[in-house]
Amino acid sequence: MSRLPSPDLARVRDDLETLASYRDPEAPGWTRRVFSRFDRAGRQWVAQRMEEAGLRVELDAAANLIGRLPGAGGLPGAIVTGSHTDTVHGGGRYDGIVGVLGAIEAARCLRTAQRELRHDLVVVDFLGEEPNDFGLSCVGSRAISGALDEGHLALLGPDGRSLGEALASAGGEPSALAGARWPDDLHCYVELHIEQGPVLEQARVPIGVVTGIVGIHRLLARIEGQPDHAGTTPMGLRRDALSGAAEVALAIERLASGGVATTGRLEIRPGAHNVVPGEVDLWAEARSAQEEWLDNFGHSVADEIEAIGARRHLGTSLSWISREPPVTVTGWVAAAIDGAARSFGIEPLKIPSGAGHDASHMARLGPMGMVFVPSRAGRSHCPEEWTDLEDIGRGIAVLAESLVTCDQREEERRGRWRSGLDD
Ligand code: GLV
Ligand code: MN
Ligand code: MN
Repeated sequence: MSRLPSPDLARVRDDLETLASYRDPEAPGWTRRVFSRFDRAGRQWVAQRMEEAGLRVELDAAANLIGRLPGAGGLPGAIVTGSHTDTVHGGGRYDGIVGVLGAIEAARCLRTAQRELRHDLVVVDFLGEEPNDFGLSCVGSRAISGALDEGHLALLGPDGRSLGEALASAGGEPSALAGARWPDDLHCYVELHIEQGPVLEQARVPIGVVTGIVGIHRLLARIEGQPDHAGTTPMGLRRDALSGAAEVALAIERLASGGVATTGRLEIRPGAHNVVPGEVDLWAEARSAQEEWLDNFGHSVADEIEAIGARRHLGTSLSWISREPPVTVTGWVAAAIDGAARSFGIEPLKIPSGAGHDASHMARLGPMGMVFVPSRAGRSHCPEEWTDLEDIGRGIAVLAESLVTCDQREEERRGRWRSGLDD
């Protein structure tokens, strides 16, 4: 079969630059956090670009932006691709964004070539992949895969608003979330993403075929002491919640041996120079490809928090906001990506993902694979995040060819995926 046209690099560059212009001017880098007006405006622009590319666009009850290109074969189960366009505070211009704009460009290449897939092609800009003010990540892909529950919707943000209310403000419909859940009949999900680490660049390989995605367990610990006068309260009489939280953060660092763990956010109350901290909320996470390691980490961190509280006469409580297991990719999807890269003369690198992705959630609905492109100096979640346009173009071309290969996969294999036998 003839090759698809190459991605139009000038158009991709323009798209990247335009979306980057939707940013919070008061925040560092290229900040476009979920539920902000900048994110809403950016996603409206993405919807327009989807429509111009010939996709049928809708916003679902979880405020996922979904563009559909109907397939010719009337086959059940769609081929899905996409990622997210929200960023972390002080984030960059490529994380997630390359996967959404790249998917739209891949759809354009298919249409230009008049190459109709047998399955519907669905491009998704998932709502809020990055951890939000409520401590939850991957809001949209959780909803699509049936993993966004009432408990999540009740989570409260710093302004007292619930996640459910925030979702409604983004155009979602929390009371209709059950309808946003997709059946587990995906033909496959393929996500293009920047690596966010240094491996591809150091190996001088432009394409990575992802082998698996780490599991991520996220916790919120509340440490309660007593707010007191910072000048008159003797050191021995204090119940300083922040000193306790500092010990918890150090314990988390120590327990990270064999995996990774990070305390990324603290909220200190009352938060004044001259008041002994009375209460601290501490958000932390651990990641590993080994579920057993994550479980052990969870038990150990709970014991440490309790022991620190007892020693310092502090109240403590611990809740787990999310516990995502590690996932492996589906062999035949990875093989399709590998074959697509080789068709361009590239010998791709097999690479695990230490970053979380919407793909982890989509893997609950069907076969899943991911394509990585290099990140300069491995930097990500910072304004310096960078991927060369040529590498992005190669990634889009590999994505598009992978979608075509996956489209040919025979349907009787679905039963194998459901029973975990898929290869
Ligand atoms: C997503 O960016 C993550 O936290 O890995
Ligand atoms: Mn990210
Ligand atoms: Mn991302």
